[in-house]
Amino acid sequence: MPLSLFQRLLLAGLLLLMVWALLGPAGLGEELLSLSLASLLPAPASPGPPLALPRLLIANEGACGGPGGPPFLLILVTSAPQNLNQRNAIRASWGGQREARGLRVQTLFLLGEPGGRHPGSRGDDLERESAAQGDIVQAAFRDSYRNLTLKTLSGLSWADKHCPMARYVLKTDDDVFVNVPELVSELVRRGGHGEQRERGTEPRRGAEAGDAGWKGGSPSPVRQPTPPLYLGRVHWRVYPIRTPGSKHQLSEEQWPASWGPFPPYASGTGYVLSASAVQLILKVASGAHFLPLEDVFVGISARRGGLTPTSCVKLAGATHYPLDRCCYGKFLLTSHKVDPWKMQEAWKLVGGSDGERTAPFCSWLQGVLGILRCRVIAWFHSFTA
Ligand SMILES: *[C@@H]1O[C@H](CO)[C@@H](O)[C@H](O)[C@H]1NC(C)=O
Repeated sequence: MPLSLFQRLLLAGLLLLMVWALLGPAGLGEELLSLSLASLLPAPASPGPPLALPRLLIANEGACGGPGGPPFLLILVTSAPQNLNQRNAIRASWGGQREARGLRVQTLFLLGEPGGRHPGSRGDDLERESAAQGDIVQAAFRDSYRNLTLKTLSGLSWADKHCPMARYVLKTDDDVFVNVPELVSELVRRGGHGEQRERGTEPRRGAEAGDAGWKGGSPSPVRQPTPPLYLGRVHWRVYPIRTPGSKHQLSEEQWPASWGPFPPYASGTGYVLSASAVQLILKVASGAHFLPLEDVFVGISARRGGLTPTSCVKLAGATHYPLDRCCYGKFLLTSHKVDPWKMQEAWKLVGGSDGERTAPFCSWLQGVLGILRCRVIAWFHSFTA
């Protein structure tokens, strides 16, 4: 029986919708693809010698201690010495959150040494800022974009040494808005029972099953090691940029053309590593091919260690999302290119630190459309901005 025109249109529409959902901006296709990556990986390399990293000038060894037990999530924000405004905007907004969903969160800034070109940012200013705020880790290398790999590795190494009990580390930049509560929820969801029990909100099914961690109603059950997780906006098959003068340029020696594209890596604007993934990366990084592109280098090291990135479309990657209460409050975990002024605006939009948020972030329809709507808005915005 031939289909009527209406039925054909309906069928075509449904097909389009399926393709859109899978390959389109909802990011479902990428998430599925990243799940199959692990099976394609070569065997992990054996651990190399420890990394030779610059010494710490501001070590801030106790930053992770303090009341409330170790943080669930440690946020490492790469910042430049002269970016005081950015740091203050973060401190006054999402970075000021010490707790989310009942779990402890700690935000720290990673810096190198001020260069000669920024007279307003001498070392002693940083000392003073660090003494006042207590949220700075500084290492002895010249702070520059091309030293970002060094900065990130120093930060990961700091986390491994001085905050090994933090279950997850988010590496991000000082022009990124982070939706801390939703990120914590996402990690709890992905981590499964370990985190939920730790929160103490899970019904005590484990105890009935004879789980030793809960015997006697102990308030802090034994921490189970986190399974390795490397979560971000994954960039696939990216080739090095050869344009002289580009911030991301790589020479033929740094990455020969015959090597093809980079392995899949998570965008440096915001990716999460579990504590075990941090350890794994630090173990193999000394043997990995060094690159000044921080996020690519972490991707290469992860691959060496047998760890593949998991794609999460709610982490923004390089996308800037225009301010929108539903997107910033509910669906996005990060948004990129947010200057200090916009940081405050975004913070106000999502209700700031007022714990009780009376109005829901999204209308019914916005809630149904979810991240798809946010990505369409961002896409339109990219033409007008
Ligand atoms: C990176 O830091 C080292 C150590 O301070 C310095 O010698 C080097 O010039 C820096 N590299 C760049 C590109 O700034």
